Amino acid sequence: MATILAVGIATLDVINEVASYPREDAEVRALSHSVRRGGNATNTLVVLSQLGHNCEWAGVWADEPDARILRADLDRYAIQTRYCRRVGQGKIPTSYITCSRATASRTIVHYRDLPEFDFGSFRGIPLDTFDWVHFEGRNVGETLRMMEHLRYRCPGVPVSLEVEKAREGIEALFPYANLLLFAQAFADYCGYSPEAMLQAVSENAPHADIVCTLSERGAVGLNRNGELLFSAAYPPAQLVDTLGAGDTFNAAMIDAALRGKSLSTSLERACRLAGAKCGQVGFHGLDRSRMSDGDD
Ligand code: ADP
Ligand code: FRU
Repeated sequence: MATILAVGIATLDVINEVASYPREDAEVRALSHSVRRGGNATNTLVVLSQLGHNCEWAGVWADEPDARILRADLDRYAIQTRYCRRVGQGKIPTSYITCSRATASRTIVHYRDLPEFDFGSFRGIPLDTFDWVHFEGRNVGETLRMMEHLRYRCPGVPVSLEVEKAREGIEALFPYANLLLFAQAFADYCGYSPEAMLQAVSENAPHADIVCTLSERGAVGLNRNGELLFSAAYPPAQLVDTLGAGDTFNAAMIDAALRGKSLSTSLERACRLAGAKCGQVGFHGLDRSRMSDGDD
């Protein structure tokens, strides 16, 4: 069991499931409706907790009524929040999500009225108590200061960075990570194939394992020896809910790295667990049995 810190967001996800994605200006009835905790960093922690790790979240917390839903879910998975910054004003970041039953796509409209977690709050965390630190690639200037500080203070603590979207200056973060977790949208933005993007990024991060998810096509990776690796996806019997598939993939990659797995095995296990997630609503029950390769 490892002790893991993740820096990033928790959200309120307001989810409507519809038969198929509506055209603009249409009025349709939802097939189901739910309100849940979401957010990349905390989604990843909820999965890591079920994989057997001690998990700590560092983010910004607003004391407002919707925070109760987040608190209940974080408590359910024993995610600690002592290093979060609490603010009296503002709104928990909220995602209004339309899930299409026809395609299992999830379309997200996100509203945010909360400061970002900053270096001032990060510097007080006793970083040497962690076996792994994971960052969301957002709020680039402050995240860079956090990653530099961590590398200086605790050079031996492995670091992962999730890069979902292109943000100005984000490439400055790459050299500070041991594991870089990209989504295909980033390669698309750069105008590269995922494989070419991995090669280009490796010039800036020669000591990192670098991976890129490809949705229903699985994932590709480039290890520190320059070997290009691939895992196909593991489609579930029925595609139910892809929301947070990437966050689940990231949790399985971190877990595999902590267990000393090769990048090739890690990719396969992460695709297995992310595939299992796509076959169910939410994250509950995504434990080791769901990515078993008989080699723990
Ligand atoms: P997100 O949109 O949440 O960032 P991705 O679409 O990049 O996530 O997918 C992350 C991983 O989830 C993929 O690498 C794959 O392993 C798995 N995955 C996503 N969609 C499917 C699917 N339709 N069938 C099987 N696995 C999937
Ligand atoms: C899924 C997710 C949702 C959240 C959104 C934030 O990956 O974390 O739970 O609303 O992305 O961007």
